[in-house]
Amino acid sequence: MPLDLSRREFLQAGAAVAVAPTIILPQGVKPVVISSGNGNQFKNGGTETCVARAFRLMTSGTDVLESLIAGVNIVELDPLDTSVGYGGLPNAHGIVQLDSCCMHGPKKWAGGVASIEGVRTPSKVAYIVASSTDHHLLVGKGAKDFARNMGLEIEADLNTERSRAAWLEWMRRTDPGHYLDPNKRGDGLEATLQMSREGWIDPEHVWGTINCNGINPKGEVAGVTTTSGLAFKIPGRVGDSPILGAGLYVDNAVGAAGSTGRGEANLYNLCSYLVVEEMRRGKSPKDAGMEALKRVAANTVEKRLLNERGRPAFGLNFYVLDAKGRHAGVAMQGGAKYAVCDENGPRLENCEALFA
Ligand code: GLY
Repeated sequence: MPLDLSRREFLQAGAAVAVAPTIILPQGVKPVVISSGNGNQFKNGGTETCVARAFRLMTSGTDVLESLIAGVNIVELDPLDTSVGYGGLPNAHGIVQLDSCCMHGPKKWAGGVASIEGVRTPSKVAYIVASSTDHHLLVGKGAKDFARNMGLEIEADLNTERSRAAWLEWMRRTDPGHYLDPNKRGDGLEATLQMSREGWIDPEHVWGTINCNGINPKGEVAGVTTTSGLAFKIPGRVGDSPILGAGLYVDNAVGAAGSTGRGEANLYNLCSYLVVEEMRRGKSPKDAGMEALKRVAANTVEKRLLNERGRPAFGLNFYVLDAKGRHAGVAMQGGAKYAVCDENGPRLENCEALFA
């Protein structure tokens, strides 16, 4: 069993390991955890946010990826974040289907699950795919059966009252109109966006997700992304989050990048891989992230995806960390923030926007 924590400890969601080893920092490395803004918002009734827990664990000797997963478990389990894990907004049939992937820089591990049902914490299943199988991606029923076989609890329904009510409202307004007419390619998302304008859905949760990346005091880099995906998606739709190179990419020698926002725009451009490769070529985290946003903007040509100024109308953010611990959040639209935790504690910082 290649988990550094025992399976029982790890599956019990982030039991802290408190022995602080003597740490000799590689030259210039600054341990830090970054994530989408929800990583310093939700606490699931506890006292710590995702970035605070992950930073505490990784600076106390817990494996870098296990620390990040223990962090995102808080958000996955918190029903108030309707874009991730338990209580995530369901698909068009009212079923919560979750996506996640993770990468471990030094171990060169990668694993993901897509369209998994019944497991509140898909990031744990992604971790077990990475650590305990020869594969990188399991989907649908196979992923659920795998999780059951590996000892995780499978639940019949991950909806909460809130996510079910939002789905019922969406069905009342749209059925069956959310399938795009290939001749018109019109307003498939309009009902969802209108519901977010009316307060039924947090605007951040239409495509919401959490991505969390970290570098520990030994200079080891890892990342994890986990989501319930696009609200009211066609059942089986998979976005960018569980796809290596799109929703997340990690190279221990270079850094890590991950995303939240419109998955289709990211999938078309495989931006997390692009961002890491731009850093490999010498760009700063901010400039590398901006390069990816410009690529997405250049490849967004359909009118339904553009605003009145001819720019992408959707949100897409990247959270970027290099192998020294320098970091940036970049966003297609202005106003976004990202979460950071380092020796100065957890906080939100402004994302750099391509279109302010
Ligand atoms: N970025 C999350 C999704 O599109 O599914």
